[in-house]
Amino acid sequence: MITLKILSGSSRPGRFNDQPVAFVAEVAKILPNVAVEVVDLATLNLPFLDEATPPMMHGYTHEHTKAWSAAVAAADAFIMVTPEYNHSYSPVLKNAIDYLFTEWNYKPVGFVSYGSLAGGARAVEHLRGVAGELKMYDIREQVLLPNYWEHLSTEGRYQFSDRHHESVTELVQELIFWGEMMKEARAKRIM
Ligand SMILES: Cc1cc2nc3c(=O)[nH]c(=O)nc-3n(C[C@H](O)[C@H](O)[C@H](O)COP(=O)(O)O)c2cc1C
Repeated sequence: MITLKILSGSSRPGRFNDQPVAFVAEVAKILPNVAVEVVDLATLNLPFLDEATPPMMHGYTHEHTKAWSAAVAAADAFIMVTPEYNHSYSPVLKNAIDYLFTEWNYKPVGFVSYGSLAGGARAVEHLRGVAGELKMYDIREQVLLPNYWEHLSTEGRYQFSDRHHESVTELVQELIFWGEMMKEARAKRIM
């Protein structure tokens, strides 16, 4: 059994982010061997990184950092649901990531993105580089929603297809497999 945390990568009022986050959570919750939790970075409301020492040193002084550290440490795998802002990922996600280091280490991460024609692909390419620095394993399977606004109902609901359902399932299955493997590996390793 692994704990999967889905991080919402937008803090904008009226964000589209809520829709893919809810869909991914709904699909993931059907699968066995995974406890799913959504972490809304807008509600978490971390200030811009305000710790004096780099996160590798664990010299956390603020309650918000300690709480965020505990939340990430308790997870075995992550899905980052990100928009694409100016060909990269969102500042709220970057800030939340940079607060910590070892808490991310040796854990798998998958990506769901959206935007215009590229569907957020450029944002995810940047996140993959960050994942390497954090000693995370970035999963190849990826879900992209290009030009998402062309697939909204008159009520503004994105029309997710069976193919999206399959893609999210494949992504989560990879995360469960590697989440379990890496959990075992972390238990053997003194970090
Ligand atoms: C600051 C900003 C920059 C953007 N840059 C891009 C971009 O580079 N590529 C893209 O596909 N969409 C871009 N967009 C459009 C977003 O994909 C679209 O606004 C999306 O709804 C943002 O996600 P959110 O609603 O969850 O915040 C940008 C939007 C904003 C607000």
